[in-house]
Amino acid sequence: MEVGIDKIGFYTSNYYLDVVDLAKARNVDPNKYLIGIGQKKQAVINPTQDAVTMAANASINFLTEQDKQDIKMIIFGTETGVDNSKSAAVYLQNLLGINKSSKAFEIKQACYGATAGLQIACDYVRLHPDDKVLVVGSDIARYGIKTPGEITQGGGAVSMLVTANPEIIAINETSTFYSEDIMDFWRPIYSRNALVDGHYSNEIYLQFFQKTYHEYLQQTGKKIDDFAALLFHLPFTKMGIKGLKSILDEDSDEYKRLLEHFENARNFNANVGNLYTGSLYLSFLSLIANDHGLKTGDLIGFFSYGSGAQGEFFSGNIKNIDNDKYRLPIENMLSKRKKLSVAEYEKIYEITLPNDNSDFEFDISDDKARFVLTGRKNGHLVYEEQSDRML
Ligand code: HMG
Repeated sequence: MEVGIDKIGFYTSNYYLDVVDLAKARNVDPNKYLIGIGQKKQAVINPTQDAVTMAANASINFLTEQDKQDIKMIIFGTETGVDNSKSAAVYLQNLLGINKSSKAFEIKQACYGATAGLQIACDYVRLHPDDKVLVVGSDIARYGIKTPGEITQGGGAVSMLVTANPEIIAINETSTFYSEDIMDFWRPIYSRNALVDGHYSNEIYLQFFQKTYHEYLQQTGKKIDDFAALLFHLPFTKMGIKGLKSILDEDSDEYKRLLEHFENARNFNANVGNLYTGSLYLSFLSLIANDHGLKTGDLIGFFSYGSGAQGEFFSGNIKNIDNDKYRLPIENMLSKRKKLSVAEYEKIYEITLPNDNSDFEFDISDDKARFVLTGRKNGHLVYEEQSDRML
């Protein structure tokens, strides 16, 4: 029996920053951001969106009433949780109307959370083939203003329905993983912004990739030319190029072939930025939406990385290809976004719920998403569904 991703959806907020504008404001050569980092646009998350609403907005378009009955587990990967105790998965269950006879919980390990969720989901469905599992990765990537990490911000959510006999990709059972206590990137409890040792984090990422990738080849007997494409966690899209170069000679035919597929796989990420847990899966969506060379049965390699640090390499075989089904809605969503000036972005960056238990109401007039965070009342977060205003 095959198990894997049957349905997938994506959401990001309706604001973005052009990285050329950011470069000019920071006195940086725009080519450093466009070529050196590999980004074009950066999602700026509207204060009326959080990890919960983004996950709900990513899921709502593909879940049927039957799916909502069949889901037995909701796994929420995030490092932008909305509560230190209550999981974002329970809020999501309520917003989406998923049946209550299900397990709902949150996973945190930096950008690795959604992969942990996907693997748990696949193992669960292998044992319970009639059940479905909803796995989401939803995050806001935030660094300090005017820090080197600023260009690698972004945000959004990817939602996946894991089932037996999946429509999109079957995930293979073997995966290789490695974890070690490393301080390359972290976010202390007191801080909204991540702290990072940037160059060190790049090094560790590549070390974990090489370790897990080579171990995967050893365990499975596969070779590089068995893979139609290699996908990477993309904190910024140049990272995937670094990954490919770390295992292949730039002049080799294999490098050129995989680079061609990677160009399709980084298209959406270059226009959204880092969404932490969801980034690898946005890259997968970008591949299946934009790569017209993919065929049923093609083997795709996935490298997942979460700072701190955890790496995992796994693979899947493509089931059905329908590029436009995935490309058109995402292109539509991205094209409707409003471009912000750097001054507007810096203003939005500061807006947050007060750091106490006081009541607060956001102005939601500029947010057309189906689910929004309207504020806080009596200590409770208030989420609203605006069914007539969906993106
Ligand atoms: P930096 O020090 O400002 O940049 O920060 P740089 O000087 O290293 O330059 C970057 C690249 O631009 C270099 O290319 C330059 O040569 C090139 P590379 O050597 O890397 O190939 N460059 C130019 N190219 C063309 N024209 C020019 C030009 N000028 C320079 N004029 C850094 C870069 C990524 C360190 C910083 O943005 C940062 O700290 N980002 C946050 C950390 C991060 O994203 N780390 C990635 C690995 S860790 C990870 O993926 C996990 C994470 O997602 C968190 C989680 O797990 O939750 C972050």
